[in-house]
Amino acid sequence: MRFPQTLIPAPLRRPAPPGEKAPGDGGPVERAKQAPADVVGWVDERTGASGFLTGMLYRKVPKGTNWFYTLGSATLFAFTIQALTGVFLAMYYTPSPTEAYDSVTHLTNDVFLGEFVRGMHKWGATVMIIVIFLHMGRTFFFGAYKYPRELNWVIGVVLLILTLVMGLTGYLLPFDQRSYWATVVANNITATGPVVGPYLADFLRAGPEVGGTTIQRFYAIHMLLVPGLIIALIGAHLYLVVKLGTTAPPWLRGETKPKSLRREEV
Ligand code: HEM
Repeated sequence: MRFPQTLIPAPLRRPAPPGEKAPGDGGPVERAKQAPADVVGWVDERTGASGFLTGMLYRKVPKGTNWFYTLGSATLFAFTIQALTGVFLAMYYTPSPTEAYDSVTHLTNDVFLGEFVRGMHKWGATVMIIVIFLHMGRTFFFGAYKYPRELNWVIGVVLLILTLVMGLTGYLLPFDQRSYWATVVANNITATGPVVGPYLADFLRAGPEVGGTTIQRFYAIHMLLVPGLIIALIGAHLYLVVKLGTTAPPWLRGETKPKSLRREEV
């Protein structure tokens, strides 16, 4: 597939056939239309990004790819919504035992669209956990965890754990009765874990009782540490998806094809 010539920066474009005008030839309006492509060309000349982008966007996908293959992108979309709504919530939230509850109440009742954005973040968390499990189920049942994609499966498992950590640490932040006692219970369960359990629970509680220091610790983990790790791991996950290609559906994998038509089924 080829880009329309107008979108290709001038130095990379094929010369116009004799008698035809090249895009950008002509009056000021034509040249103005050309400006965005020139900007893209300037950036591309200095970064080489177009090779990566065309490789990613025009990569071959196996025959039989269906709606189940969109679940990874759905997870990515859910994460993006969580990140965006989280930024707006952080503008009003105060991570302190005396102010957390009031800051959330103020955000919900007084701030323009505050309740809506908070609702998106709250329900988005549930949606992300549902779609990540569905995506994992798809890769499992389609055998996509097998050679050579084992590492991508392992990265996925870490992403799943990190997503659950986001849910756990976010739950405390409103600091109402439910979130307080849910965190006490979760912390007590963590403490019963073998070997590292008690140490991990002490670290998360950050003091003798769940309280102000716990909120600060959970807040830092919830909005800095874990999102940073998730973004880095999504980068590695998608790099491997592009590099290794996607797995064909199991019911088509046994099909024999002429060698010249085989692709991606490593
Ligand atoms: C933040 C979480 C995640 C994001 C954003 C994400 C995103 C994606 C995307 C966009 C794809 C390519 C399209 C597709 O196959 O759906 C993909 C493929 C894949 N993902 Fe994930 N994923 C996540 C979590 C997971 C988890 C929890 C697992 C499993 C434990 C996993 C295992 C895989 C595997 C093995 C592939 C390759 C699929 C194939 O070759 O057909 N991912 N992921």
